[in-house]
Amino acid sequence: MKPVEAIYSLGISHNKFGLPLPDGTTYPEWATNYSGERALEFITHFDRVRDRDWEQCSFLDLGCSEGSTTFELSQMGSVVFGVEGREDGICRANVIRSVLGSENTHFSVGNIDDEASYRKVDGVFNAGVLYHLEDPLACLKRTAESARLFVYLDTGHAPRSETEQQNSKFVANFGNRYTLDYEGLELDVVDFAEPKNKSEVQGDGLRRGPRSGIGNDNSVWLSHDSAIALMAKLGFPFHETIKEYPHIPRLRTVFFRTEPRPTTFDGKYTWPLPETLPRNEAIRRTCQRDIEFLRGTGHPVIVLGRGSLLSIIGGELRDAGVQVSEMVVLPDMPVSKGMMNQLTKDKSGFIVLAVDDVVKMARNVGILNRFDYVFTSFALARK
Ligand SMILES: C[S@@+](CC[C@H](N)C(=O)[O-])C[C@H]1O[C@@H](n2cnc3c(N)ncnc32)[C@H](O)[C@@H]1O
Repeated sequence: MKPVEAIYSLGISHNKFGLPLPDGTTYPEWATNYSGERALEFITHFDRVRDRDWEQCSFLDLGCSEGSTTFELSQMGSVVFGVEGREDGICRANVIRSVLGSENTHFSVGNIDDEASYRKVDGVFNAGVLYHLEDPLACLKRTAESARLFVYLDTGHAPRSETEQQNSKFVANFGNRYTLDYEGLELDVVDFAEPKNKSEVQGDGLRRGPRSGIGNDNSVWLSHDSAIALMAKLGFPFHETIKEYPHIPRLRTVFFRTEPRPTTFDGKYTWPLPETLPRNEAIRRTCQRDIEFLRGTGHPVIVLGRGSLLSIIGGELRDAGVQVSEMVVLPDMPVSKGMMNQLTKDKSGFIVLAVDDVVKMARNVGILNRFDYVFTSFALARK
């Protein structure tokens, strides 16, 4: 088996960001976002306080999901540790690691509410996770203790005004607004509703949203001003706000222990990740790889779709020598997670999507707790 083929048996990717693979494709092929922007920001700003060779520097990526940013942070040759609470994400990160031959990235399963998930490094990438925690103060304290020089924080914050709260796409999730005391510092926070059912495996055939908090039905969002005040107290008195998304509100802030030098990083990585092919070509290559794998292993697939796409893709798979065990016709309307759950109740294994809204459907299938892989390349090739 080629190393990348291990991916096909590790459940459905929950990554929003496509990881570039050496053959010019991305994993998963349907994730068109590119997270490289945040890694570039991290490296650019870390460089302003860097005091030794890149190869001697180490970073920690908290809540690293399937490792997309972990790999990107390693592009100057530094050692990067990714820690993630969901084991399936780490299994997929480790497969990608072997495919990329990335020896300086290291992954472990760990809850970032636990002290043991932290380690001493030069810089911490704390992105997309603080706002999923019930105790963000403990996380920031450990983040600051772990980071010798630099912290990158990308998170949702308590809205700065009633108008900002009302305009937030998460307005329905916000709860009580109150203050927390941290060693005499008064911190402004708001409660935020995470999914009600705390179990990872939910009784009705669904899994808990794989990008949500783990084991909590409430998280606590610090206001941006309070996060800055807390970080100053924790030893990071210098900060710069580098991005703002008021409709969440979400901000990216970089924190330094010492006054940073002006930016000089030229954006050129010493160990760049593979370049991706133009989108159409990358999808075509993914189709080829998917067909070779399915034909080679003889694994049957269930094709789920509607209209002419269902018969075209079903026919093509059969012509290519792939075993199609079933064709499931979807109703001609948007299919919700609940509907998808009902329609696939007793099914398992590999699923091929033959629909126009393939990215959305791949996400809906990913929340089900039953499929090993979802193939979207055949539908994407026709978009
Ligand atoms: C919204 S995703 C963000 C992923 C990535 N850091 C990024 O910014 O693209 C949140 C990730 O944090 C993980 N996570 C949530 N709560 C966690 C916890 N308490 N400990 C470890 N990981 C957690 C989730 O499993 C998920 O992979």
